[in-house]
Amino acid sequence: MRKREVMFDVDREFNLPGIFVGAAVTLTHRDHIAAIPGVLAVRPVINVPPPKPVSLHVVTGPNDPAIPDTESTHVITGVDKLHAMNITGKGIKIGIIDTGTDYTHPLLGGGIGPGHKVIGGFDFVGDAYNGSNTPKPDNDPLDQCNGHGTHVAGIIGANPGNAFNISGVAFNASLTSYRIFGCNGSVTDDVIVDALMRGQKEGQHILTMSLGGADGWTEGTASVVASRIGSTGRIITIAAGNDGAKGAFYTSGPGNAIDGISVASLDNTVIPLQNATVHGVTRAPITYFDALPLPVKATLPIFATSNSTTVEDDACNPLPDDTPDLSKFVVIVRRGTCTFVQKLTNIAAKGGNISLIYDNGSGFSAIAVGDFISALIQPADGEFLVKSFASGKKVSLSFPQSGAAFSFPDPTGGLISSFTSYGPTNDMFFKPAVAAPGGNILSTLPIPLGSFGVESGTSMATPFIAGVSALLFQKNGVTPVVGRTSTALLETTAQIVSSSHTKGALPQTAAQQGAGLVDAFKALTADTVVFPGELLLNDTANFKGTQTFTINNRGKVNKTFRITHIPAGTMLSLTNGSDFPADGPVPLSNRTATVKFSNTTITVKPGQTVEVTAKITPPTGLDPAQLPVFSGFFQVANANESFHVTYLGLAASLKDAQVVDSSNTFFGVNLPVITNPQGDFITQPTTFTFVGQDFPELLMRLDFGTPKLLLDLVDPNENIPTTLNQPSTSKDQASGNSTTPIKTIGSLFEADFLPRNTDQDDGSGFNLFDVTPPTFANGTKIPNGQYKILLRALKVTGNPGNESDFESWLSPTIGVNVPNEEDVIPIL
Ligand SMILES: *[C@@H]1O[C@H](CO)[C@@H](O)[C@H](O)[C@H]1NC(C)=O
Ligand SMILES: *[C@@H]1O[C@H](CO)[C@@H](O)[C@H](O)[C@H]1NC(C)=O
Ligand SMILES: *[C@@H]1O[C@H](CO)[C@@H](O)[C@H](O)[C@H]1NC(C)=O
Ligand SMILES: *[C@@H]1O[C@H](CO)[C@@H](O)[C@H](O)[C@H]1NC(C)=O
Ligand SMILES: *[C@@H]1O[C@H](CO)[C@@H](O)[C@H](O)[C@H]1NC(C)=O
Ligand SMILES: *[C@@H]1O[C@H](CO)[C@@H](O)[C@H](O)[C@H]1NC(C)=O
Ligand SMILES: *[C@@H]1O[C@H](CO)[C@@H](O)[C@H](O)[C@H]1NC(C)=O
Ligand SMILES: *[C@@H]1O[C@H](CO)[C@@H](O)[C@H](O)[C@H]1NC(C)=O
Ligand SMILES: *[C@@H]1O[C@H](CO)[C@@H](O)[C@H](O)[C@H]1NC(C)=O
Ligand SMILES: *[C@@H]1O[C@H](CO)[C@@H](O)[C@H](O)[C@H]1NC(C)=O
Ligand SMILES: *[C@@H]1O[C@H](CO)[C@@H](O)[C@H](O)[C@H]1NC(C)=O
Ligand SMILES: *[C@@H]1O[C@H](CO)[C@@H](O)[C@H](O)[C@H]1NC(C)=O
Repeated sequence: MRKREVMFDVDREFNLPGIFVGAAVTLTHRDHIAAIPGVLAVRPVINVPPPKPVSLHVVTGPNDPAIPDTESTHVITGVDKLHAMNITGKGIKIGIIDTGTDYTHPLLGGGIGPGHKVIGGFDFVGDAYNGSNTPKPDNDPLDQCNGHGTHVAGIIGANPGNAFNISGVAFNASLTSYRIFGCNGSVTDDVIVDALMRGQKEGQHILTMSLGGADGWTEGTASVVASRIGSTGRIITIAAGNDGAKGAFYTSGPGNAIDGISVASLDNTVIPLQNATVHGVTRAPITYFDALPLPVKATLPIFATSNSTTVEDDACNPLPDDTPDLSKFVVIVRRGTCTFVQKLTNIAAKGGNISLIYDNGSGFSAIAVGDFISALIQPADGEFLVKSFASGKKVSLSFPQSGAAFSFPDPTGGLISSFTSYGPTNDMFFKPAVAAPGGNILSTLPIPLGSFGVESGTSMATPFIAGVSALLFQKNGVTPVVGRTSTALLETTAQIVSSSHTKGALPQTAAQQGAGLVDAFKALTADTVVFPGELLLNDTANFKGTQTFTINNRGKVNKTFRITHIPAGTMLSLTNGSDFPADGPVPLSNRTATVKFSNTTITVKPGQTVEVTAKITPPTGLDPAQLPVFSGFFQVANANESFHVTYLGLAASLKDAQVVDSSNTFFGVNLPVITNPQGDFITQPTTFTFVGQDFPELLMRLDFGTPKLLLDLVDPNENIPTTLNQPSTSKDQASGNSTTPIKTIGSLFEADFLPRNTDQDDGSGFNLFDVTPPTFANGTKIPNGQYKILLRALKVTGNPGNESDFESWLSPTIGVNVPNEEDVIPIL
């Protein structure tokens, strides 16, 4: 056998023919291993962040007024009616891949093993695992330190007949707990793959994963494996992600699994609120969004970070030097532009610990405030507080620790939770697929952590769909056909969700709501089947504007349907005049597609299937540079029944989307740029010794995901023109259609399917490549000499064999001058 110049440790081996045969390895020679016969793909092992709830409140007891109407989630989805029909998931096996489960909880059966609700499980990692240390597996998936998986398990399986009046969607299903998170921290995706494959082997009918990380592509390892299991007829439900604030085209992996169900969150219709008392002036209480009172005993004066109530980026930048010590104030700040945590971090830098954030118009909802003491208030209350402060009035606030709570119909109840990540994927796949209640959900927590709590997130919506899937399998039979058609069935029977409660508002973009809120009762009882659930129109360059769908009458009487078009708001993905994604809530336009149907009225006889053709014309009058994502619904309805097929497309060419950020917006210097570890920007020819901290770094941002990023060394005399910020034109096609590869000296780095960066300072804001030690990607030393670094990023839908489909950038001349070769420790 030929000697392979590859070094790796086998960390984990996988062998499930038909699904995934492979190994997780640590290697330095990515290029080489890919060239070995029989190796089909090399995918990086990536870190997947912990399943962080958007908000969490432990409730104190059944008389705690913070508890929302616990059955509201079942009522709005028809689950209550299925329970009344004795459809409760009996005989269905659901594997929960999460932080483990506190199966000692009485509502979760009080034990583990055959005969219990939790019939088994496995701990792949152990308590101390955090995503960067070595997992310590054992047979017991008990979790009494994290809690997330227990909340998820309760949404699926909590027994009814308790003081809180809650019950799981499929409370007679059998649960298996696969624990892949420790008490804190993240998980690497090889562990996720391991759990998925064990779940498949152990015969789980449904696998559910309330986890994920921003990705944007369908090609991630866990996405691919989940999708393959889904394609065999099991049902895989996966969270859509909680990155709604980061704008469009920011889907989560493994939620991107093509044959998985990516789940969006809907705000519960009932919310818990608290009142703060106003002192110094006569004024009604200030209502804030929280299940429990803010833990503040003192009466504190207010301080506004701005005296204007129209400043959009209030406290997004460090507060001015003359800001007083804020530790003895309730800080009032406006919502908008940056994340809540960023505002609160800036306030904390001035000592501020307690704050109220007034809304900029989108109503009451759970907000992600990290560990800060903060809650959302209404715009009018914010305006009152800021105006009082600006006029010098001495206003202070107190937070009664009891008696100030009340339940309230949620103004955003029944709308998609603002935190739900927006799709579509970078190459126009339809994610999320369907929505379920995930905002303000009461469920079980581990007994040591309080037994019950209210949490929000797509993590809470996902197990709801797993539960509905169990009801579906119980009713229609556990067959591959039922599994494979489940996504379409849930999509076509879903309830279309509006973009706001304003009369006449368009439906929310399908890029965030998917096909709408699940209607479990309709999905399980309808005797009309519309197929498929989603129509993917792609971009203008790959436009599929003629689509068909079918209507199958499984009833005993003739049915006549009207076919109509219900357009959703068109999502303007990028901010006008920039290459940057618009932060969520992403603005919608009322310019929508137009559609011509082959039949507007259609009669379907019992047992018959008819086909309808739709010819879709994308919306006009929009700027393609904003990447408008248009979507909507083809409704099939009569007086008794209503179904829909959801479509989604882009009124622009993906290939024209700017991939590499070339602006100076984020760092005050045009990107990409060479820096050093001291943070200096290097724009002139510079020589590095690679001793200690004397080495170059490449700082860059991606405005859009790229299917391929290449960093190569080239001859310093090379003068390849920079092609950033130049959408391909027909002229480029004629002249620059070179398929001749650029002459390079060697590769420094290569990665496939990278996600875009965001405008947030949370690790997703930029990419920094350390060029040290001075070796090529294959581990060979870079000889001393003069070079330039060539960066190339493939445009979405670009052809990797065509140089003109890459955006490129060339660095200043970089000298490599390693003084004494022994000072440098090569990787090999
Ligand atoms: C409910 O279903 C279970 C199992 O499928 C069955 O044993 C029981 O008799 C049913 N109860 C009713 C009221 O239909
Ligand atoms: C994970 O835990 C190890 C100790 O086992 C610690 O050294 C490491 O810093 C931790 N990593 C993170 C990211 O917390
Ligand atoms: C639970 O339901 C019972 C009966 O409908 C009702 O009397 C009680 O108030 C409910 N409890 C809570 C906490 O909602
Ligand atoms: C379903 O779950 C309920 C609540 O735990 C239990 O009382 C009932 O016996 C179960 N039904 C079946 C058929 O297992
Ligand atoms: C809370 O404040 C709101 C608005 O001022 C008021 O309508 C409501 O009655 C108050 N509720 C309680 C329990 O104080
Ligand atoms: C806001 O108003 C207060 C009270 O009038 C004043 O002390 C403060 O300087 C003002 N802040 C700014 C930034 O103008
Ligand atoms: C859209 O077209 C591109 C280019 O052909 C293709 O790579 C991509 O998979 C298509 N997307 C969908 C959802 O079909
Ligand atoms: C359905 O309509 C057809 C005519 O299109 C008629 O012949 C047939 O009797 C009808 N069937 C029923 C069940 O009403
Ligand atoms: C569409 O939106 C524009 C701008 O917001 C508005 O002026 C117009 O009235 C709207 N048209 C319809 C039909 O709602
Ligand atoms: C639908 O329309 C097509 C073309 O107009 C027609 O041939 C077909 O018969 C219609 N189908 C039904 C079921 O009405
Ligand atoms: C450029 O490439 C495209 C697609 O590969 C091809 O269709 C076209 O003919 C080429 N144009 C020239 C001028 O070579
Ligand atoms: C590693 O890459 C460099 C640059 O492409 C090349 O010159 C060298 O031969 C490669 N080394 C091996 C061991 O393949």
